[in-house]
Amino acid sequence: MNEMAQNTNLSGHNAEGGFDIDRIRQDFPVLSRKVHGKPLVYFDSGASAQKPRAVINAMTEVLEDQYTNVHRGAHYLSQALTDRYEGVREKIAAFINAPSENEIVITRNTTEAINLVAATYGRKFLSKDDAVVISDMEHHANIVPWQLLRDETGIELKIAPIDDRGMLDMDAYAALLDRNTKLVSMTHCSNVLGTMLPANEIVRLAHDRSIPVLLDGSQAVVHSTVDVQDLDADFYVFTGHKLYGPTAIGVLYGKADLLAQMPPYQGGGDMIATVTYEKTTYQEPPYRFEAGTPPIVEAIGLGAAIDYVSAIGMDAIAAHEKALLAYATERLAAMPDIRLFGSAPEKAAILSFVQDGIHPFDTAATLDRAGVAVRVGQHCAEPLMTRLGVEGTVRASLAMYNTIGEIDSMITALERARSLFA
Ligand code: ALA
Repeated sequence: MNEMAQNTNLSGHNAEGGFDIDRIRQDFPVLSRKVHGKPLVYFDSGASAQKPRAVINAMTEVLEDQYTNVHRGAHYLSQALTDRYEGVREKIAAFINAPSENEIVITRNTTEAINLVAATYGRKFLSKDDAVVISDMEHHANIVPWQLLRDETGIELKIAPIDDRGMLDMDAYAALLDRNTKLVSMTHCSNVLGTMLPANEIVRLAHDRSIPVLLDGSQAVVHSTVDVQDLDADFYVFTGHKLYGPTAIGVLYGKADLLAQMPPYQGGGDMIATVTYEKTTYQEPPYRFEAGTPPIVEAIGLGAAIDYVSAIGMDAIAAHEKALLAYATERLAAMPDIRLFGSAPEKAAILSFVQDGIHPFDTAATLDRAGVAVRVGQHCAEPLMTRLGVEGTVRASLAMYNTIGEIDSMITALERARSLFA
């Protein structure tokens, strides 16, 4: 550990004030396990974060003691669980400062949330020659739904370029906001480069031309405080499993007036008001967009995850991760064979890199042997790989439970990869 690590008080042995790294680590049972005989160093939270005991316990409690369907039964269990389930909608709204829980649509994940907007808002309001603007650092989940819409309706997809630091070219972005552009759909934080995009400015420029904006907050919501009213985002989407919650639950926030104009996404139970063979009428948002039995247990898990991160404080989490990012960046930059991608001044703790002369999969395999779990490949962002001029990268995505000592373990394993392969 170097001097910087000691100064940042992030060794994993001590923490003052509200952020107690030792206690946080104890809350995540998986962090005490070994992989290949080495302590697990989990640097793949960008793909899916580990779960604190509070989330595991909340889900188990529902399954053991409270389980039934929601929105349907007149019996005690159903009413009690419906209240608990709907309470989560309120928690989600408060977490991102949405004006109302009625603007929170429960989805399966971010991917489904974006597909929902493309299939409902997109089909209703976009037509041939209208354009959707995305950036050159989108996850496939924010590319392919718009391509599907393009194939169906003839819309155009415009790509706002990025510079070599991984920042959005704001002049080029502004130039794309012409008469044809009817929607901007952009990531709030790159899952590959960690770049935090200037979301307020992105929204302001679009709104100056009355263009609505969807922000993909999958990564941003994990690493920073998100306030949809301050952002003035028209749609904001994220997933539960990266936010220390379970899989199979995601969130679409949409402004009430937009949701009210959107047709249903899928048809089925729960989203209807009345059904006859001749005509069916639909519920008001958000229920109009939630056909079928919802992810009940997963919602309770997400509620527990939101309680958990809120009790620690998103600002405290962000400060811890910022110190980790600074340390990891310094250590990686000091290695002559490492090429690091993404150096935006506003960055989340996501580090993508390649090692000179070593295939990224060999680097990742060496890290794995040392117990260090990273993601390797294209990270569901193939066009960005083309822009970076690489086939793939190694990605270390850090979380609130990571430590300086774990970064040291990764650096030692990278030195070993160099001695093995270079
Ligand atoms: N979107 C996830 C990632 O970036 C899967 O790894």
